[in-house]
Amino acid sequence: MTSRFLRACFREPVDATPVWFMRQAGRYMPGYREVRRGRGVLDIARTPALAVPVALEPVRTLGVDAAILFADIALPLQAMGFPIDIEEGVGPVSAVPVRAPEDIERLRPFEPAQVPFIPETIRRLKEKLRGLPLIGFSGAPFTLASYLVEGRPSKDFARTKEFMWSHPDAWAALLRRLAEGMGDYLRLQVEAGAEAVQVFDSWVGALSPPDYADAVAPATASLFRSLRETGVPAIHFGTGTAALLPAMRAAGGDVVSVDWRQPLDEAWRSLDGAVAIQGNLDPAAMLAPVAVLDAKVDDVLARAGGRPGHIFNLGHGVLPGTPVDHARRVVERVHARTGGGG
Ligand code: CP3
Repeated sequence: MTSRFLRACFREPVDATPVWFMRQAGRYMPGYREVRRGRGVLDIARTPALAVPVALEPVRTLGVDAAILFADIALPLQAMGFPIDIEEGVGPVSAVPVRAPEDIERLRPFEPAQVPFIPETIRRLKEKLRGLPLIGFSGAPFTLASYLVEGRPSKDFARTKEFMWSHPDAWAALLRRLAEGMGDYLRLQVEAGAEAVQVFDSWVGALSPPDYADAVAPATASLFRSLRETGVPAIHFGTGTAALLPAMRAAGGDVVSVDWRQPLDEAWRSLDGAVAIQGNLDPAAMLAPVAVLDAKVDDVLARAGGRPGHIFNLGHGVLPGTPVDHARRVVERVHARTGGGG
């Protein structure tokens, strides 16, 4: 039988609501911290013998309904010839950001030969997962462009917007290159065995709806179009997207993932019920006393109202310091409250 996660992606009825967590592999997990000692995030991602156990840990410890490849959105940018790294406690950084239109020429077509460890990790994970679905992922053109232009994480995306407005043709070309590169990267993941893909547009909520429509949606839509031929469901993720949901839905994805800033039922209405929905527990709720956490889980489930096409997740990634017990409790509660067996 198809897994409940994949059924929910296609809005088919399920035996219980599927649940997984963005950033379910990470510092809150003891096994991850062990592997991480003396190594960088990308070192782990480049080593199948490390990336496989790290991706499996939350599956085994929490009982989630899907695994996600262990990698980072910055990684395929290196395979496009762009120097970028993950700085401890900061995120993606580049010493040579995109500052002038001609800088976009430095972004080359994606080279699969640069990431042989990705299909290898996927193949090894599939063997261990025995039918539990594996999610592949990439960043979306806007979120990736923000790292390329800023050279590091940003709060206001001022340089990104300045570039977008000052050099609209170069900006469009940059996003097109990213969409093509991520299309190639995601197809590689699906060919190796990923059964769904998630496109992370983590910072897209920084844009106004007209800027999104003019400067971002065309590239994002072309990425989702290029994924259709794979036949696997695509999840379109963003945060702070209350005003952008109709445009994001139009840009593509079988599932739209929403954060906690907007109630799930409201978000679903603005998506016209035309796609599945993923979300939307506040990640900080997993740090709260369990009575508060339980109530917040129940609120999300009540707003989903048992409709087909809900994938329970956080609105953003698991926070460091989250008690593993609390994460497991959420998985168990979602299954118990939505499963026929009660
Ligand atoms: O289980 C999983 O989901 C892990 C795989 C994964 C990582 N990064 C590994 C990682 C995934 C899906 C990502 C995606 C990612 N990377 C996104 C999109 C998701 C989101 O949170 O919006 C973004 C924006 C990035 C860029 C990035 N990488 C940031 C902002 C950071 C945070 C820096 C920090 O110290 O918290 C990273 C580092 C990173 N990538 C970690 C992990 C597990 C942090 C843990 C560590 O340093 O060991």
